[in-house]
Amino acid sequence: MSIASEKDLIGMKNAGKAVAITLKKMREFAKPGMSTKTLDDYGFSVLNAFGAISAPMKDYNFPGFTCISINHEACHGIPSHHRILQEGDLVNIDVSAELDGYYADNGGSFILGKDEQGLDPLVQASKEILEEAIGKITDRVRISEVGGFIHQAAKKRGFTVVKNLCGHGVGRKLHEAPFEIPCFRDRLNRERFRKNSVIALETFISTKANLVYEMADGWTMRPKDNSFVAQHEHTLIVTDSEPIIVTAANEIF
Ligand code: CO
Ligand code: CO
Repeated sequence: MSIASEKDLIGMKNAGKAVAITLKKMREFAKPGMSTKTLDDYGFSVLNAFGAISAPMKDYNFPGFTCISINHEACHGIPSHHRILQEGDLVNIDVSAELDGYYADNGGSFILGKDEQGLDPLVQASKEILEEAIGKITDRVRISEVGGFIHQAAKKRGFTVVKNLCGHGVGRKLHEAPFEIPCFRDRLNRERFRKNSVIALETFISTKANLVYEMADGWTMRPKDNSFVAQHEHTLIVTDSEPIIVTAANEIF
């Protein structure tokens, strides 16, 4: 969507705050021994206190309030009673919700407890590259330019990017135009970021694989090999200077 009024701006900020606080609280609540379903139910209770409704459930009938993806899973992991968090797991929580007609989307990977798998450099890369990429977005910058930056920054740190997962426009629905904000320089993508447009910028930084595939559950996406993927995501409003980060309340930087 494009911000057309003060009401739109306030609406986006409120939705952004609801998902950001939910993500932050879920990350703090997550403990080894806890099922991902318990963590998701907790996320529901926080969203509900804001009056916010799970966006993946509302727009796509996703079987959970939030997406919780563990280790080799890249995204869209389904919360389950059978999935128990372990010390050292790479955990990705992605929270998106609708509040008063406005949608915001916020995600982040973290290591649960001790870094037993040596994945801290991957998580830090994803987080820092997102922050740097946000700094490059302003009115009329090409989407492909920011994608190219993310890819190059990942390579410099010895990582790569997942090419078939993307950031996207957001605001009145979970996914809207521009539908593809890739993590690489897509030469066919001639689109530019536009002032006042609302977008969800996402990194998908991978230890090796550059494609992910849908698993038998019909939702979870993961690489075919045992690569790890870290993702960080913020919802932004493009301006003619630095973007406004509406999901800044989770303090991932
Ligand atoms: Co998301
Ligand atoms: Co998103």
